[in-house]
Amino acid sequence: MNAVVTGASSGIGKALVLEFCREGARVIGLSRNEAALRELAERCRNFHFIVTDLSDLGSLSQIRGKLAGLGNLDVLVNNAGFGAYRRTLEMEADDVIRMTSVNFLAPILLTRELLPLMGEGSVVVNVITAGVHVLLVDLPLYGATKIALHYVSEAMRDELRERGIRLVSVYPGLVRTAFHLRAGKEVKGGITPEAVARSVIKALREGKERVYVPRYLGLLRLMGPHLPKV
Ligand SMILES: NC(=O)c1ccc[n+]([C@@H]2O[C@H](COP(=O)([O-])OP(=O)(O)OC[C@H]3O[C@@H](n4cnc5c(N)ncnc54)[C@H](OP(=O)(O)O)[C@@H]3O)[C@@H](O)[C@H]2O)c1
Repeated sequence: MNAVVTGASSGIGKALVLEFCREGARVIGLSRNEAALRELAERCRNFHFIVTDLSDLGSLSQIRGKLAGLGNLDVLVNNAGFGAYRRTLEMEADDVIRMTSVNFLAPILLTRELLPLMGEGSVVVNVITAGVHVLLVDLPLYGATKIALHYVSEAMRDELRERGIRLVSVYPGLVRTAFHLRAGKEVKGGITPEAVARSVIKALREGKERVYVPRYLGLLRLMGPHLPKV
């Protein structure tokens, strides 16, 4: 099996890489932190990587070329993402653009770019957040990019199905990774990234399309996505 995982250098992406490796898959990881990717390559013989900044949307068109010789791509995991505990209008313009690019545009454009490598039976996994069902007051722009990803994933699911490709949306609750500190706040508690990775692998095996981790968060679906009051 061939898998591409974005945001492979830490947290959920790294846990997924290690889980895929254990399953005997060949994994290609994408992220900016070369040292972290090298370290993963030392732990997993079948891990290869491409150092790339996914906010540079123009460079996404080169990724397919870099995967030449891979053969069929069985799984693409759009996992890379980041947040900021900042009010939207207080953010630098560049950060607004970068967050929207990495969290929302890159998953669409990378899927589009790698589609020719995927065939009947391939799977696209989009890592969203269970936060799409509640108001992420402290992470407003992040919440908006994830609701947008949730929305477009529902639409892309049908498009991909026509090609025999399954789309799996993943909705984690609070996960103990570098995410929150990088976003500017110390947050305690949460599930492990390994638990999320195991749930994703299970969903791939069982043919599921939506995965909530922990599972009880699936009840949030009854609320629909959160939409700010107008
Ligand atoms: N932690 C949570 O509570 C939580 C909850 C729900 C959903 N999520 C989602 O889970 C996903 C993974 O987050 P995590 O919790 O594992 O956080 P993390 O440990 O901070 O990992 C984020 C990953 O995204 C990559 N990334 C960020 N910006 C990038 C860019 N410009 N170009 C390429 N790669 C970039 C990072 O790699 P480099 O820095 O090396 O580029 C890193 O590998 C995200 O989409 C996040 O929104 C997290």
